[in-house]
Amino acid sequence: MSNRRKFIKGGILGAIGTAIFPRIISAKKGRQNSNSKSGFPIVISTWEHGIAANKAAMKILVDGGRAIDAVESGVRVSEADPEIMSVGFGGLPDREGKVTLDACIMDETGNCGAVSFLQHIKHPISVARKIMDETPHVMLSGIGALQFALEKGFIKENLLTSKAKKKWQDWLKESEYKPIINVENHDTIGLLALDKKGNISGACTTSGLSWKMHGRVGDSPIIGAGMYVDNEVGGCCATGLGEAVMKTLGSFLIVELMRQGATPQEACEEAIGRIIKNQNYKHMQIGYIAINKKGDHGSFAVHNGFNYALHQGGKNQMIDSPSFVKK
Ligand code: GLY
Repeated sequence: MSNRRKFIKGGILGAIGTAIFPRIISAKKGRQNSNSKSGFPIVISTWEHGIAANKAAMKILVDGGRAIDAVESGVRVSEADPEIMSVGFGGLPDREGKVTLDACIMDETGNCGAVSFLQHIKHPISVARKIMDETPHVMLSGIGALQFALEKGFIKENLLTSKAKKKWQDWLKESEYKPIINVENHDTIGLLALDKKGNISGACTTSGLSWKMHGRVGDSPIIGAGMYVDNEVGGCCATGLGEAVMKTLGSFLIVELMRQGATPQEACEEAIGRIIKNQNYKHMQIGYIAINKKGDHGSFAVHNGFNYALHQGGKNQMIDSPSFVKK
């Protein structure tokens, strides 16, 4: 049996189809998540840059702070780090050499804010937070988002570092876009936190695909695609090729599967299964991380190489995610 068929057959929902999955899922209610310990506060985030982000977020949580403040503070660390070439300052530009940023944030009450196609602002997550807190809207985009940020006192900066510019100039020689699947070529930071009260929040921020078309927006600012939380259930973040996540509204899907009884692990596997089933997954990487309200976590990716940082029970550690394609 091919890997694909095995997955579809073995996946929690793959073999059964959407029509009857609520019945199957509810039969599994009460199952333990095999892959994690429960408990909060917990912070979980994508990729190795998650370690520093988790640390900043957990600092807020151990002092009794809110998850929403923790997630914002956590991802700001990655946004400010010029060595992280897929987020904020130092992010790789689009094919025109412009650094354009996407981000979203969501709290335990279901409030959320997002920015897309934002240029010149180092901390898009904080602009998203201001949109959430101070406007009746969810998302501002492009020039409008920039105008809003400037009105709120954010500083206009050049985000294209000389290192990123050099990489872009090298790319221009061939101008060929080929997403490479490995841990060096990762992207988004997605971060989820449960605070001491058990309230959940999430944040997601990225400079998106390097060398993308000018104006391209990925999954990261789309509530329900790049990130979603529901305080009755849990939360999820996505990383990887945004188009595939958007087509399946992956984070919302995973939270809804958990609502129906799936563990975080089962839900992540099913969401990756939907991508495997309908899209040409060979040359794309997608990774999901999810937590439920007990502080159980799960993760799954299309390809080998996805990892995430988990801060729980006093330990902040990297964990390799299981994946559909093993090698
Ligand atoms: N996941 C980030 C992007 O596709 O832009």
